[in-house]
Amino acid sequence: MQLDELSNLIKARHSIRRWQNKEVPLELLKKAVDLATWAPNGGNKQNWRFYIITNRNTINSIADEVQNTTNQMASWPEAREFVADVDRWHERAGFFRSAPAAIAVSASQYISEADKILGAREKFDPEASKMRVWRNSANTKIQSVASAIAYLLLILHQMGLGAVWMTGPIQAKGNLEKLLGVPSHMDLVAFIPIGYPGENPVIRGRRPVEEVIEIIS
Ligand SMILES: Cc1cc2nc3c(=O)[nH]c(=O)nc-3n(C[C@H](O)[C@H](O)[C@H](O)COP(=O)(O)O)c2cc1C
Repeated sequence: MQLDELSNLIKARHSIRRWQNKEVPLELLKKAVDLATWAPNGGNKQNWRFYIITNRNTINSIADEVQNTTNQMASWPEAREFVADVDRWHERAGFFRSAPAAIAVSASQYISEADKILGAREKFDPEASKMRVWRNSANTKIQSVASAIAYLLLILHQMGLGAVWMTGPIQAKGNLEKLLGVPSHMDLVAFIPIGYPGENPVIRGRRPVEEVIEIIS
């Protein structure tokens, strides 16, 4: 693949939030996950689990749970304070209900040798405690799973599918984990509704590269 082709692939992927009413073959989703697991990840521990959902009732139940928590939040006075259009925000919460498929992603804790050393010393050694805080600020667990999700979105796009990476639904984490059967040693970290695109999305551009780089010479 030429760099230009890769560039086109990357730049043509956009979050999709409307889908055609057309089933997505399970085999395609399995293939996408299979490829996504080739993403770099901390210690190659592959601390993830992908829940492929093709049952619309399950997607509806997930949307109901998210809608319920959003309704609750919208009823709090803080919602009026922090959300410009609470009614629209609240109505849009379950927009992914119309997706024919989804992949939920969970992650388990990542504990390296360094974490074990620091964990044993942090209670009595401030240097170790400081290093522990630094390591936690770079959260390998989440970085690893995010790496796979980024791959996954690109692969789905190449397959002609449209998806959106969502952390919003995590506000209903407890009930969603029960619904999906996520084991207690894992955390649900993202929900990705998927289908054949039913919209030409608004293209969210990016800041010029000069604004985001520092050349260290
Ligand atoms: C960690 C993460 C969480 C996100 N959560 C949501 C979400 O809860 N709801 C949503 O509609 N989009 C969500 N998005 C999608 C972003 O809004 C979207 O990627 C961003 O606006 C850039 O647009 P693009 O993906 O079309 O390039 C999330 C993206 C990331 C990476």
